[in-house]
Amino acid sequence: MTEISRDMIEGFNLTNPPEGFVDNPFPFYRALLKYAPVCPQRDGSYVLSRFADLDRIYRDTTLYISDKKQAFLPKFGGDTPLYEHHTTSLVFNDPPLHTRVRKIMVGALNARAIANMEPGLIETIDMLLDDMDGEEDVDLIEDFASKIPIQIIGNMFDMPMADREPLRDWSLAILGALEPTLTDEQLATGNKAVVDFKVYLKDLTDERRKNPGDPATDVLTRLIESEEGELSETELLQNCIFILNAGHETTTNLIGNALAVLHEFPDQMAALKADPDLIKTGVDEFLRFLSPNQLGNRETTEDIEIDGIQIPKGSNLHLVIGAANRDPAQFEYPDVLDLSRKPNRHLAFAGGPHLCVGFQLARMEGRIAVTRFLNRYPNYKLTGKAELGGRLRFRGYAKLPATLN
Ligand code: HEM
Repeated sequence: MTEISRDMIEGFNLTNPPEGFVDNPFPFYRALLKYAPVCPQRDGSYVLSRFADLDRIYRDTTLYISDKKQAFLPKFGGDTPLYEHHTTSLVFNDPPLHTRVRKIMVGALNARAIANMEPGLIETIDMLLDDMDGEEDVDLIEDFASKIPIQIIGNMFDMPMADREPLRDWSLAILGALEPTLTDEQLATGNKAVVDFKVYLKDLTDERRKNPGDPATDVLTRLIESEEGELSETELLQNCIFILNAGHETTTNLIGNALAVLHEFPDQMAALKADPDLIKTGVDEFLRFLSPNQLGNRETTEDIEIDGIQIPKGSNLHLVIGAANRDPAQFEYPDVLDLSRKPNRHLAFAGGPHLCVGFQLARMEGRIAVTRFLNRYPNYKLTGKAELGGRLRFRGYAKLPATLN
């Protein structure tokens, strides 16, 4: 394991991270946890990494808010599609919009609705496994992990099959725009993705208003017919985009990261093959160990002090989920993948009133995808040409080439 030192995080700045950080942030996280758990940034924001701090902040919506109308102004400009999208999304709002939209979404993802999705999920996964049969070389992201959530989310919105293909690129472009630093090209791609996605969803919602689906299973009909009070057209379309994105790249990363990390821990691969039931606790360990969403944010509503550091009202806090989930104060041997880890109260789905709405669905997708993949291709090997997505906020692979037999 890489030795850590205070020097590694001297002048640490998330908008211009040290060399090697994007590929492997974990040694830097360890250094932050030890030497600078509350790390002031040049732009006046703060990077926080301790489990206990994040856990407390996620639960406290009085001192820490999610609204980003101020924070996103310099990033996106006030009159841009990305600004409209992200500041209208449930995740970057506080009550009352948050309460209304969340209630609609939670209702659509109750235990029964998720159980109803299981047969369709198994069918999708088995079809993808069949498609790879006989292939010498595959890409576990392109051919498998990224295809699963698209179909599940597409089913939730009852989207025609033929329409689903652009979802992944739209989602990557829109969520990619949340990175701490952006090029002009990334901004332009993100803005265009919001515009195109909105045009598509406008047609779909107009059609669905004429021919409503079953609100018990169709999230779009549910959002349109909301009893919580009608959403404005912008709120409706932007929150559709949000949920389609939220359930997508993160789940792709969970599945891809799991299939990759098993190769780093051959004892855990062997244990899982010997006892497939281990996936029940294992899926949370994959989420803890390589959290698909590494960074969250909150804004302070008062002057506060954490770890002796004064943080003024209105400061932006970067909450490093990936570090908190490796905090030795919370997890024994945090840098070891232990699929039987229990308890495992990680923060991969955040916590408090913004706790991920899709966490049970994501767990089910991860559990079934990894189990069925290992069952069909127990001897799969990575070819060593993996490419990470290159992002700080979302951790996952862009390409994961492998041989199957
Ligand atoms: C492994 C997969 C997933 C991970 C790691 C993940 C992670 C997260 C995290 C960390 C948040 C909290 C963000 C914050 O407040 O700062 C969140 C919120 C959310 N997630 Fe997920 N998510 C996953 C899958 C899903 C799926 C499958 C869906 C739905 C189909 C979904 C829907 C949502 C929604 C609607 C919110 C907003 C909740 C709110 O603000 O009240 N997520 N997710």
